[in-house]
Amino acid sequence: MMITGKTKIVGVIGYPIEHSMSPPMHNNAYKQLGMDYVYVAFCVLPEEIENLINSCKTLNIMGLNVTIPHKTSIIPYLDEIDETARKIGAVNTIQFRDGIAKGYNTDGIGAIKSIEKYTTLTDKRVLIVGAGGAAKAIAFTLINEGISSLTIANRSKENAQVLIENIQKQTGFETISYQPIKETDDVIFDVDIIINTTPIGMYPKHGVEPPIKTNNITENHIVMDIIYNPLETELLKQAKLKGATTINGTSMLINQGLVSFEIFTGRNATYESFEEALLEQLKQQ
Ligand SMILES: NC(=O)c1ccc[n+]([C@@H]2O[C@H](COP(=O)([O-])OP(=O)(O)OC[C@H]3O[C@@H](n4cnc5c(N)ncnc54)[C@H](OP(=O)(O)O)[C@@H]3O)[C@@H](O)[C@H]2O)c1
Repeated sequence: MMITGKTKIVGVIGYPIEHSMSPPMHNNAYKQLGMDYVYVAFCVLPEEIENLINSCKTLNIMGLNVTIPHKTSIIPYLDEIDETARKIGAVNTIQFRDGIAKGYNTDGIGAIKSIEKYTTLTDKRVLIVGAGGAAKAIAFTLINEGISSLTIANRSKENAQVLIENIQKQTGFETISYQPIKETDDVIFDVDIIINTTPIGMYPKHGVEPPIKTNNITENHIVMDIIYNPLETELLKQAKLKGATTINGTSMLINQGLVSFEIFTGRNATYESFEEALLEQLKQQ
C-alpha cells in the first residue's frame, strides 16, 4: 500500500523497541484489509516520556502500543484511563480521539481469549507462575472472568505478596495464595490451568529446566506459557508429553494486538493476518 498524504499513523513505543513484533502484525492486517494506515516503532527514552502524549497529539497519531519500560510511567500523562488498566496499574494501548488520550490494557484480555478457545474460566482454579507485570495483567482479568481460586508461585515471596495484597485490595478476591516456585508439586493436583509468566525458557536461554516440576501434570490440565520464542518451551514440551492441552505465547501476543487494533481503528483484523506476520518474523530470528 502506498503511503499518501492521508495515511493514518499508529505505532509502538518502547526502549529498546527494534525487536517488537507489533509492526509486522498490524501492517499485514492493514494490507489485507486495504486500510490506509501505517504502524511504526518509536524508540522513546524514559526521560522523554512526559513530552510524548502532546507530541502524538500534535502529529495526529491515532494510537500507540506501549511496552517496556513505559507501561506504568506513561499513566500520569494520559487524559483518561480504562477501569481494567487503572486496576492493573499499566497501560499497553493508547487511543487518541478528539484530543483525548485514553489508556487501556489488552495484555490480560489477550491471555484470556487464548485460554477461552479451550475452556470457560468460570469456577476454574488457576496457578500463575511469576508475579511481574504480565502476571498482574493476567491475574486481574482472570478474576474478572470468575475463576474460583488463584495461586501465585514466585521466586521472591515479597514480590508475590505485594501482588496478592494489591489484588485483594482492588478486587476483594480472597481465594488467592502464595506458593514458593520450587514447591508447586502438590498445588498442581488442585488446579485446572497453569500459566507461566516468567522468562525461564525464553530465547536465547531456551532448553533449560521449566520453572516448575511437571511430574503431576495430567491430560486434565491446560498449560499456557506466555513465552513465544521458542514456540514450544521445555514446560510445554513436558506438559504435552503428559497429555495436557498446551498454549504457547503467540496467541496472547496476537490476541492483545487484535484488541488494540480494534481500539485504534474500530475494525476487526483476522487472527490469521497477525499470526502469518508473527511466524514469518520469528522464523527470521
Ligand atoms: N506473549 C505475550 O504477549 C507476552 C506479553 C507480556 C510479556 N511476555 C513475556 O512474559 C515474560 C515476563 O514479562 P513481565 O513483563 O511480567 O516481566 P517482569 O515484570 O520482569 O516479571 C518477571 C517475573 O519472572 C520472574 N523471574 C524472572 N527471572 C527468573 C528466574 N531466573 N527464576 C525465577 N523467576 C524469575 C520474576 O520473579 P521475581 O519476582 O522473583 O523477580 C517475576 O515474577 C517475558 O518473558 C515476556 O517476554 C509475553
